[in-house]
Amino acid sequence: MKVLVATEKPFAAAAVNGIRKEIEAAGNELVLLEKYTEKAQLLDAVKDADAMIIRSDKVDAEVLDAAKQLKIVVRAGAGFDNIDLAAATAHNVVAENTPGQNSNAVAELVFGLLVFAVRNFYNGKSGSELMGKKLGILAYGNVGRNVARIAKGFGMEVYAYDAFCPKDVIEKSGVKAVDSQEALFETCDIVSLHIPATPETKESINYALVNKLNKGGILVNTARKEVINEPEIIKLLGEREDLKFVTDIKPEKDAEFMNFEGRYFSTPKKMGAQTAEANINAGIAAAKQINAFFKDGDTKFQVNK
Ligand SMILES: NC(=O)c1ccc[n+]([C@@H]2O[C@H](COP(=O)([O-])OP(=O)(O)OC[C@H]3O[C@@H](n4cnc5c(N)ncnc54)[C@H](O)[C@@H]3O)[C@@H](O)[C@H]2O)c1
Repeated sequence: MKVLVATEKPFAAAAVNGIRKEIEAAGNELVLLEKYTEKAQLLDAVKDADAMIIRSDKVDAEVLDAAKQLKIVVRAGAGFDNIDLAAATAHNVVAENTPGQNSNAVAELVFGLLVFAVRNFYNGKSGSELMGKKLGILAYGNVGRNVARIAKGFGMEVYAYDAFCPKDVIEKSGVKAVDSQEALFETCDIVSLHIPATPETKESINYALVNKLNKGGILVNTARKEVINEPEIIKLLGEREDLKFVTDIKPEKDAEFMNFEGRYFSTPKKMGAQTAEANINAGIAAAKQINAFFKDGDTKFQVNK
């Protein structure tokens, strides 16, 4: 089987080596299309590919039309909104992601952002500590669980809400489960967002919700920018000078947020999963999932069911 790695922004060399080792050990062939600049190059490369590994590369109906042999496309990473799932289903292509492979990287960045925020962005003025603070984790998935693990090391009081994960699963891991996202914001000093971007979560982080945060509250977003109601959060930051907002996803209205100097920070580009370890883990996981699909028909990580 021909496995195409199509990456506008290539994997690190160590990840490509790892992917190659997995693919070839299973008797499959690896083809690389890296740093392509035109969609036409992608359309040409997918023609005879049986499988495809991508990063943030867009797989739309046009790509799927061109990929006559394609049976599976794996997004090396957690988010998969760059794949047109309906079109993949219509083309009988299995679409998968590699959940969990970059979760620790994202969770560590949460604490990078938080320490930066409570120490006033290293402006020389005395700050505060994370120990003893109430941290709310909104969505107890792969990243949320890693955030909980690290937060305990900081000596934080950890709370979580997840719309689908049962409370007892949360409680068993030593985290206090609350009944709603409103309750989470009401209880906590800091809320860290780990929800996916869905019709329900879109712009759900709004004025009324974040206004419930305790005095000196911090909102940290390493999830998706779509979940933030930007005009409402700008309004709130204007009214409540005690609040801070730190994010790994530059908002559309970054320039307006920049007015809240000392209370707002965005990474220049999404950094959450940008570690050597996450890059390698996700690529190798994608290769293993493709091998398992061809060997046993394994579709455990399928996202277009
Ligand atoms: N910053 C980055 O570079 C980076 C990297 C990886 C993932 N992410 C983002 O982080 C977020 C979490 O990723 P993950 O790997 O933990 O995902 P995951 O699928 O493991 O977990 C998501 C959790 O959200 C819960 N959920 C879904 N809808 C909900 C709702 N309406 N209310 C409450 N909970 C809800 C699910 O039950 C699940 O437990 C995603 O938005 C993902 O895109 C960002």
